[in-house]
Amino acid sequence: MNKTVLVTGGAGYIGSHACKTLAQAGYAPVVYDDLSTGHPEFVKWGPLIVGDVRDRTRLADVMSLLQPAAVMHFAAKSLVGESFQNPDLYHQVNAGGTTAVVQAMQRTGCESLILSSSCAVYGNASAAPIAEDQAIDPISPYGASKAAAEQIAFSAYGIRTVALRYFNAAGGDPDGEIYEWHEPETHLIPIVLDVAAGTRPELSIFGVDYPTLDGTAVRDYVHVLDIADAHVKATRYLGQGRAGLALNLGTATGHSVLEVVRAAERVTGRRVRIANTAARPGDPPSLTAAPRKAMETLGWSPRRSTLDNVVADAWRAYQVPETMAA
Ligand code: UFG
Repeated sequence: MNKTVLVTGGAGYIGSHACKTLAQAGYAPVVYDDLSTGHPEFVKWGPLIVGDVRDRTRLADVMSLLQPAAVMHFAAKSLVGESFQNPDLYHQVNAGGTTAVVQAMQRTGCESLILSSSCAVYGNASAAPIAEDQAIDPISPYGASKAAAEQIAFSAYGIRTVALRYFNAAGGDPDGEIYEWHEPETHLIPIVLDVAAGTRPELSIFGVDYPTLDGTAVRDYVHVLDIADAHVKATRYLGQGRAGLALNLGTATGHSVLEVVRAAERVTGRRVRIANTAARPGDPPSLTAAPRKAMETLGWSPRRSTLDNVVADAWRAYQVPETMAA
């Protein structure tokens, strides 16, 4: 049986964890990444092909050579703030890249696509927790580009897509082989750990008068290895010839920014200095997932995703580069 899976964006944070999980499950990941934000040292479980996800000809050549059983499509721009400054780029890479991927799949007869999507497609959802039948109503160019990517994939003839709408991917590989590494770093947990480790003076809390329990924004943090596991389960599901669909990946439990700070203090045993600042544009007050559909469809569960475990694994992985540098 063909076990090759093409992983676009496989040198990035979530893509590299997916490659590790794929390899552990007996698949053979091949990474396609332009290394604009990914790290070649995170490609450890198969070959790396350096290429742009918008390059249709290259992708089609790679696909016809590999004849993969499935494609996992992670390659994307993923910062809400940056998407306001450069919406065209977000549309070109996220929507245009998905068009290139599905066209290459159609040309080579690969039918199974696992698409990296986001809770950002829901915008300011009116209900909580958010189920998949909530209206798609993005409030940022990033969210709009992910909604467009889903539409492109779902309307591609001959392709079955599982679109996985992640809530807040967080945590790291407890073995420390790969970890969260963005330049610049904008995500809450790695920034909080920088403050705990003393490499940043303080955490700026973006917004303290949201209509939440303590005034800070609430998110549903889901362990990156649980997300990776859902991708492998979706690959098996599509391999059985089943129909495509969109699934939320989250825990149904939200945590405020202040709760994350307290968890980091518990896990690291260090103080995290905070400063209150204005809310970031495009940040909804509260986002939590109703993950039942993913649990029922894929037999998935977010088993590593308690807040303390997410922060503890992030902290463990965070300390590996420090140890290597020592
Ligand atoms: N936050 C701070 N200070 C910081 C960084 C973050 O207060 O220095 C807050 C944010 O305002 C937010 C929460 O911490 O309320 C989490 O922020 P992240 O930047 O870690 O994550 P986001 O919720 O902004 O982004 C995530 C994904 C995106 C996705 C988005 C959907 O990274 O890909 O959720 O809202 F689009």
